[in-house]
Amino acid sequence: MRAAVIDRPGTPLVVEDLTLDEPRDGEVRVRMVASGVCHSDLHVRDGDWERPGPIVLGHEGAAMVEALGAGVTGLQAGQLVALTWYAPCLHCPACQAGRQWACSGSASVRHRMADETTRLHRTDGGEVLAYLSIGTFAEAQVVPATAAVPMPEGTPPEVAALIGCCVSTGVGAVVKTARVEPGSSVVVFGLGGVGLSVVMGAALAGAARIVAVDRVAAKLDVARELGATDGIVARDAAETLAAIRDATDGGPDYAFEAIGLPATVEQAIEVLPPGGTAVLVGLTPFGARASFEVFPFVDGSRRILGSNYGYAVAAIDFPRYARLHLAGRLPIDRLIDRRITLDGIEDAFARMRRGEGLRSVVTF
Ligand code: APR
Ligand code: ZN
Repeated sequence: MRAAVIDRPGTPLVVEDLTLDEPRDGEVRVRMVASGVCHSDLHVRDGDWERPGPIVLGHEGAAMVEALGAGVTGLQAGQLVALTWYAPCLHCPACQAGRQWACSGSASVRHRMADETTRLHRTDGGEVLAYLSIGTFAEAQVVPATAAVPMPEGTPPEVAALIGCCVSTGVGAVVKTARVEPGSSVVVFGLGGVGLSVVMGAALAGAARIVAVDRVAAKLDVARELGATDGIVARDAAETLAAIRDATDGGPDYAFEAIGLPATVEQAIEVLPPGGTAVLVGLTPFGARASFEVFPFVDGSRRILGSNYGYAVAAIDFPRYARLHLAGRLPIDRLIDRRITLDGIEDAFARMRRGEGLRSVVTF
């Protein structure tokens, strides 16, 4: 079984042959069909985030179910599933309250199975972890059954893969975290897979003005095709803020930051009119801080929301986003501009560092 492994954060991906153990209680073995390349993989690759290793990266995948471990119900061999990178424990208070994105019992954060072991080994027997328990840069994987969500009939596998991270993160930030009302004005900083999903979510929610901001001009055209009404090439901060205010009658009701840079986090807060809401979606390197002037923030009753994974309850939200795609209301396929193999991921990372192109998808 081939998989793309890093020894530790900050080192390049190497495609290796690994052995894959059989699924145990509550686990399933899947054959990967497609995996998007997300900036969160790049954060680990570049050493922005401390993570254990060796580890198979990738966390935006779709797969076919192959074999069920003991006690698994609700899944069958041959089914297409989208994989969630935050397998819920289903028992903690957050899960029981229906807030699985805030689960406190998930083994996914340790990149292991629930019993703290791993199903991946090198030929010398050394254990290899799976990023967020799903490590989708692999031809096959054993994952927690709660990570595998069956997709509606007819869902294209590449679309299912993107629902596993960027779509749920971006669309969910709009419709679940912020609950943007029809007629609202919205600005989106950053037009990668996540930011373009925010644009699609804002269009779905009926936002009247959707202002898309990126430093790469070509991204603005894609954003317009997905529903943005205005596009601004980010240069100087003061100019960008003035252009956003111009396009939104003095400032947007909602400002989404989908890059993960302190400078644009600060802009998303500063651009708000009284009563406005900044929604922070992009993840920064560890330790990054941002600041804002407190008096006007409180005086104008502004709000800041953090939104991880778009408040996803995968079992409910993944099929819902897939059905919206099948109904023509979420053109998720438009986010993909390149199909690659496992050997092409380092090159896809290089493109992403330059802000070039849209989503690269590994197909198996
Ligand atoms: N101003 C404006 N746009 C910028 C800037 C900047 N200073 N810096 C980068 N960008 C743009 C890039 O040109 C690119 O279009 O931000 C976009 C980022 O997109 P991707 O690198 O494709 O990242 P994505 O996978 O969408 O993830 C975005 O969300 O979940 C987090 O970890 C993830 O922090 C990352 C963020
Ligand atoms: Zn991701």
